[in-house]
Amino acid sequence: MGYLRKVKIAVVGETRPGERRVALVPGLVSRIADVAGDVVVEPDAGAAAGFSDEDYRQAGASVAADAVRGAGVVLSVQPLPVYRVAELAPGAITVSFLPPAQELDLVRALRDAGHTALSMELVPRISRAQTMDALSSQAFVAGYRAAIVAAERLPRLMPLSMTASGTIRPATVLVLGAGVAGLQAIATSRRLGAIVKAYDVRAASAEEVRSLGAEFVDLELPPLEGAGGYAREMSEERSRRQRELLAPYVADADVLITTAAVPGRTAPLLVTEEMVAAMRPGSVVVDLAAESGGNVEGAKPGEEVAVGGATVWGGANVPSQLPAQASQLYSTNVVNLLLLLRSGDELVPDFDDEIVAGACVTHAGEVRHEPTRTLLDES
Ligand code: NAI
Repeated sequence: MGYLRKVKIAVVGETRPGERRVALVPGLVSRIADVAGDVVVEPDAGAAAGFSDEDYRQAGASVAADAVRGAGVVLSVQPLPVYRVAELAPGAITVSFLPPAQELDLVRALRDAGHTALSMELVPRISRAQTMDALSSQAFVAGYRAAIVAAERLPRLMPLSMTASGTIRPATVLVLGAGVAGLQAIATSRRLGAIVKAYDVRAASAEEVRSLGAEFVDLELPPLEGAGGYAREMSEERSRRQRELLAPYVADADVLITTAAVPGRTAPLLVTEEMVAAMRPGSVVVDLAAESGGNVEGAKPGEEVAVGGATVWGGANVPSQLPAQASQLYSTNVVNLLLLLRSGDELVPDFDDEIVAGACVTHAGEVRHEPTRTLLDES
């Protein structure tokens, strides 16, 4: 085995409002030190997630305000602020969430300065990349949180309860969109004792829903599957029909949790205000898609609004609300991606590897991500 050229790895303190996660938890410093040299963390980088500077020092990292200076690899959760690109060492590799279409200024700056930017969102969702799949790991956390948020706001008990003082009927939870987040919302609601029903447009989801002890709502509509087994966008007619068929299920639910998304599109509108208003007073709606357009009409990210007698909670950076475990899972994804960059005795992106090629936004002065290059050419 070749000797790895020691590279300094920096962990950035997040500055976006509401971001409480950190890109590398102390428990994973040793794994990264194995492939690299120093790990240097900005002061208080882990504080909001419950990790102190002392925790990092004990794990073998150092803590310094100028962590990024001279670092070959820079790790963050959110994309780096554009103004920080000037601090990066020549040819640095940045690893973070980086939705390129929403970050065109940053992409331009990283390209022009010749840095290599890897986006955790763009890691291809193939079996070999599962340990690097940060979209899934964070959706898992968000799905759990959705069920807890609903249970906490619901003015009634979730489980069937038979006591000497009488019997309480269980609450009914309806989950729309049974992907990674939806399945975790189902599992958590089941653990709380609710009766759970769920709907998704993918044919495979029915079995997944049933395996968690929930009822699959069969609307007798054709499945909507596109490339790679993901959902396709609905036509206006299908959309209307789906809402019509779902309305009685929504009206009957004590809790509605929505998680539906179509890759690269705004979230589909699944539930109108009228449908929410028809729910019983005290019902709770949790829309995890609120930030990407919303599955529920009137849902606002980061806010709780009343619609009729129901409370509608709009998710905003939901994984960050459980920052310790969300950070731990994200860090694992990041470390596994870094380990993939070992090429001979250096950390070098190998573009023959489809995971590296897929995740790369910029490299050596070029935008490697085709759709982003087109967007930049047009802008
Ligand atoms: P997502 O976050 O893009 O969407 C969430 C869910 O919404 C999906 O299940 C989708 O089918 C559903 N949806 C979209 N439009 C809808 C509509 N109009 N009505 C109802 N539901 C609608 O998806 P996520 O959770 O990221 O992954 C979806 C599936 O992809 C997973 O269930 C899994 O099987 C697969 N996957 C595979 C991976 C791998 O092979 N490494 C990794 C992650 C996911």
